[in-house]
Amino acid sequence: MDQDAKKLIAAQASLEFIQDGMIVGIGTGSTVNHLIDLLPSVGDKIQAVVSSSDASTKLLTERGFEVSRLNAVNDLDLYIDGADEATKHMHLIKGGGGALTREKVLAGAARKFVCIIDDSKLVGMLGTFPLPLEVIPMAQAFIARRMVKMRGQPIWRENFVTDNGNHILDVHNLSMANPLEMETRINHIPGVVSAGIFAHRAADVLLIADDNGVRKMGN
Ligand code: A5P
Repeated sequence: MDQDAKKLIAAQASLEFIQDGMIVGIGTGSTVNHLIDLLPSVGDKIQAVVSSSDASTKLLTERGFEVSRLNAVNDLDLYIDGADEATKHMHLIKGGGGALTREKVLAGAARKFVCIIDDSKLVGMLGTFPLPLEVIPMAQAFIARRMVKMRGQPIWRENFVTDNGNHILDVHNLSMANPLEMETRINHIPGVVSAGIFAHRAADVLLIADDNGVRKMGN
């Protein structure tokens, strides 16, 4: 099975978490795009849908959903999103698509966070995938120097502006033995809007697609 087929079956498996009357948050990325394609099949169960990016909002709208603002609804019953890396502890790296801040907000606002991945993303330790940081533009060089002090190699994602009008630094080679501590440390640097480590708000459920189907971790 190729990687895209695995993304599709992971997305399919997440549909069973959607129950009648739920307010559902939708993530961003190629795995979630499969979910958005499938979502009309359970549309009658969904009370409201909230999106983590302009890109997902556009796709949801094209499929007939009216997308609610987070400010206009209560907390989410469910948030479904992909990830760039995940561990068996449900810690994640996210933000490859640059939507990490809104994704983090929706994950934080959700009672349950279901993360859908193909098996290439399951890792023993986070950090092979460069860690995305959303930063306010005037603080970018300062934050980059801080990351060098933490032994990372920050690369500015050129010609990319987030939905919030900010920049992304992709930090390579960070030692991520303790993701909780790393997330806290980076969060304390002024000008960091958010770090793509999802450890303090980890996933509750991981749906991992491999050649044999989809396996579930957590609940
Ligand atoms: C978007 O900003 C990311 O957090 C995505 O969730 C992540 O990059 C996974 O994307 P794919 O499903 O495209 O691999």
